[in-house]
Amino acid sequence: MELSALHTRFQEVFESEPGRAFFAPGRINLIGEHTDYNGGRVFPCAITQGTYGIARRRQDSLVRCYSLNFEEAGLISFDLSQELVNRPEDSWTNFVKGEVKFLRQAGHTIDQGFDLLVYGNIPNGAGLSSSASLELLVGITLEALFDLTLTRLDLVKIGQQVENHFIGVNSGIMDQFAIGMGAKDMAIYLDTNSLDYELVPAAFGEHLVLIMNTNKRRELADSKYNERRSQCEEALRRLQAGGMQIQSLGQLSPDGFETSRHLINDEVLERRAKHAVYENQRTVQAKEALTAGDLKTFGQLLNASHISLQEDYEVTGRELDTLVHTAWQQEGVLGARMTGAGMGGCAIALVAKEAVEAVQAAIGQAYEASIGYPASFYIAQVGAGAHALAD
Ligand code: GLA
Repeated sequence: MELSALHTRFQEVFESEPGRAFFAPGRINLIGEHTDYNGGRVFPCAITQGTYGIARRRQDSLVRCYSLNFEEAGLISFDLSQELVNRPEDSWTNFVKGEVKFLRQAGHTIDQGFDLLVYGNIPNGAGLSSSASLELLVGITLEALFDLTLTRLDLVKIGQQVENHFIGVNSGIMDQFAIGMGAKDMAIYLDTNSLDYELVPAAFGEHLVLIMNTNKRRELADSKYNERRSQCEEALRRLQAGGMQIQSLGQLSPDGFETSRHLINDEVLERRAKHAVYENQRTVQAKEALTAGDLKTFGQLLNASHISLQEDYEVTGRELDTLVHTAWQQEGVLGARMTGAGMGGCAIALVAKEAVEAVQAAIGQAYEASIGYPASFYIAQVGAGAHALAD
């Protein structure tokens, strides 16, 4: 949808003067999955698909929200003079409430309401971070409308707080960081322990990243996600109780893990911790391989990541496995893995440009035959982080 059409819809829906426009991307994660809440490395990039917003400040304390993705929901409003609580019937606007609440809690003044129209072209619930995209979109919108003095990292952290304490998903910081800090054609190599990061050219040469969407909604995903996080915390607690001087699983090398894993003393927890430790190491290696232009090694690390997420972390499922395993069999595919939280959502494959159409057709056919409904495919374009759009 054209930006001018969004401006027009804004004025129609709110019977208002023109508003200001903003954009926040979605993200893919190249590698480093379920490592961010374990103090490990991640390697995501922002993509050009994302969430658009048009907004205008109001004179009263009313906030009115309208999404072109959920037109049947109509206008959803809340009043800033009342307590901001998460109510299921307020659906996506809970993210808006959460942002206002946590910005205020951080000492920022938002004393007037606003009108906000939103349109997203990231498939919803597909593991491309539509929720963090919305969080950052609302964050930069409020920053601009109310002249707030914030660093980008402040906004990233507030987005994560909303997710953790208002929405109830104990996510790490990867998604908000990638969406807040992304840059065109760059991947972000982030140490989630120190928050040091480096922008690395997302240079895939004669290859590209194909996003493969299972079209399976991530139902129950949030509770499984929180369960995985608790399992890692419990594994860490047991290692510490056994005398290991570590604050996170991300501090353990594979060797350190192998000599101490018996302290965990639970087969399932051991596998969860094993994934976190080895995935962290794979992420370090993948960053080196990409920097060196060694796409073959990079692809092999993607494959190993998927196997670990399938067997040790158990967050893939039949749909993602079907996409990824079929991708592995195709000529021209250097590697493939699930991306994001898993349990549905999307996978990525590193595919030779000349083979993309054939690869997509073959995977699409095999997927539909086995799963009973089609997958969707998009070519990832690595884009900028959240920003205001010219009027
Ligand atoms: C979700 C979370 C992230 C991260 C990934 C898994 O996207 O929001 O913080 O944990 O899952 O790597």
